[in-house]
Amino acid sequence: SRNGVAVLGVFVVDLAFRAGNMPAIGETIAGSGFAMGPGGKGSNQAVAAARAGAGVTFISRIGNDAFGELAIKTWESEGIRPRVAKTAEAPTGAAFIYVHETRGDNAIIVVPGAAGGISPADVDAVADAIRESRVFVTQLEQPVEAAFRGLEIARAAGSITVFNPAPAIKFDQSLFALCDYVVPNETEAEALTGIAVGDLDGARRAGDALLAKGAGTALITLGERGALFHARGRSLHVPPFTAGKVVETTGAGDAFVGGFAAALADGVDPLEAARFGAATAAISVTRPGTAPAMPRRAEIDALLRE
Ligand code: RIB
Ligand code: NA
Repeated sequence: SRNGVAVLGVFVVDLAFRAGNMPAIGETIAGSGFAMGPGGKGSNQAVAAARAGAGVTFISRIGNDAFGELAIKTWESEGIRPRVAKTAEAPTGAAFIYVHETRGDNAIIVVPGAAGGISPADVDAVADAIRESRVFVTQLEQPVEAAFRGLEIARAAGSITVFNPAPAIKFDQSLFALCDYVVPNETEAEALTGIAVGDLDGARRAGDALLAKGAGTALITLGERGALFHARGRSLHVPPFTAGKVVETTGAGDAFVGGFAAALADGVDPLEAARFGAATAAISVTRPGTAPAMPRRAEIDALLRE
């Protein structure tokens, strides 16, 4: 029988600074808060999926350093199986996160470090874990060639493929044909298609463009407006959930992707899985941090029942 979810991606340590504004060049300002914790889109998605109840394997590369130790401790305490290479040649990555003091939105600089060196050969070396997964998930913080290889292996093995094209970078569009689900946010959908995603209509047009590029289904996250589930002949708005006051939105997309993947691995209908992802994200934004903010299965179920 197949394991749940395999995620290929990046772990970094998030260094989050809260302040009322971004400093200008040459300026020093006082912030109102600081937190350090586990982050990185792939690892956040793995944590979200694991807390949502899925069996999760995480594929990556870290450095031989203190940040790498935090990675290992994180996966251990979340019950995630790491298939992670350790290198002395590069450090574990880090992310500078500016969090707006009151709104909770953010700006990020991420340096993937050792994970920036994940090669297609590294992915081949863990092909067994990908083949055994029911759902395979990847993003673009590690080199696109590695994501491509992971998607190829998963597709050939009949796993469900979920691609989160984040951050928005340029890549060979043939990648879309390997994706059952492409899950961008508004900004990424716009970068990929050149179509402005200001509202649901814009999202539908961008969704059409993603399907034309070969994606099976486009699932565009729309922040406080929920998401659009856009398949051929079936385009549905996934309404947003509210779980409390918004504290920090960093990692909300990762919560959505991880929750969605966990539900798919559970055999849940894809539209229902998208609702599960939206509920996962809604809870995550009421808490500070990224991976530490991910909700557990019982909390998600409770919000879905409301
Ligand atoms: O999606 C949020 C993540 O993006 C953060 O955890 C940060 O590490 C950046 O990679
Ligand atoms: Na959060």
